[in-house]
Amino acid sequence: MKILQVSDQKMGGQAGYNVFAEALANGATVFGLATGSTPISIYDVITASDLDFSNAVSINLDEYKGLPGTHEQSYRYFMNEHLFNKKPFKESYVPDGMADAATETARYERIINDNPIDLQILGLGQNGHIGFNEPGTPFDSLTHEVTLTQSTIDANARFFADENDVPRYAYSMGIGSIMKAKQILLVAYGENKADAVAAMIEGPVTEDMPASVLQRHPNVTVIVDAAAAAKL
Ligand code: GLP
Repeated sequence: MKILQVSDQKMGGQAGYNVFAEALANGATVFGLATGSTPISIYDVITASDLDFSNAVSINLDEYKGLPGTHEQSYRYFMNEHLFNKKPFKESYVPDGMADAATETARYERIINDNPIDLQILGLGQNGHIGFNEPGTPFDSLTHEVTLTQSTIDANARFFADENDVPRYAYSMGIGSIMKAKQILLVAYGENKADAVAAMIEGPVTEDMPASVLQRHPNVTVIVDAAAAAKL
């Protein structure tokens, strides 16, 4: 893994943008995208740039089950607001949270297979989750329905008016789906990510720490600030 330590999220945005720009210049056409607060500064630099994704495809990691794309907390809505409205792609896939689980997860995995991901961006859950793959998710998992853990519900409750409004289920690319990407960029900021960052990079590779699987991937770049890198 290549570790890039940046001074703050603004610099992380620039560093992440550089990874996107280089991939695009090298012919990447399929970009795996992520939600959460972490990638926002990268999307901000991309939308302010002249990078052209109009011939590229994007495939998002995950979506809450039960939220339509028009819901302000849906990940489709988030992506429209932070990236797609300003920087359109030829096609942008996000799981359909309103669709039936078996049909949607199979359809989504087919999309990933038909459009092999050149560069996948990932955030990191405090418990080491990537996408919505919570601890214990098999490393060979494909797109599936997820039951969110209480810690993830708590971490995401800040975005909802009431904790009871936080969806309990989601559709997520599996760890096996994510590992198919040719290149992975994981970004983490802040002290509450420090334990997960250390375990991901230096700990044992175990399904109890989903991000540790990245030690087995041949092309991973990690962007961290000092607080997230504190326990390395
Ligand atoms: C959610 C998302 C993850 C994201 C994580 C961290 O659970 N499903 O993809 O990485 O939160 O979010 P944040 O970047 O806001 O810390």
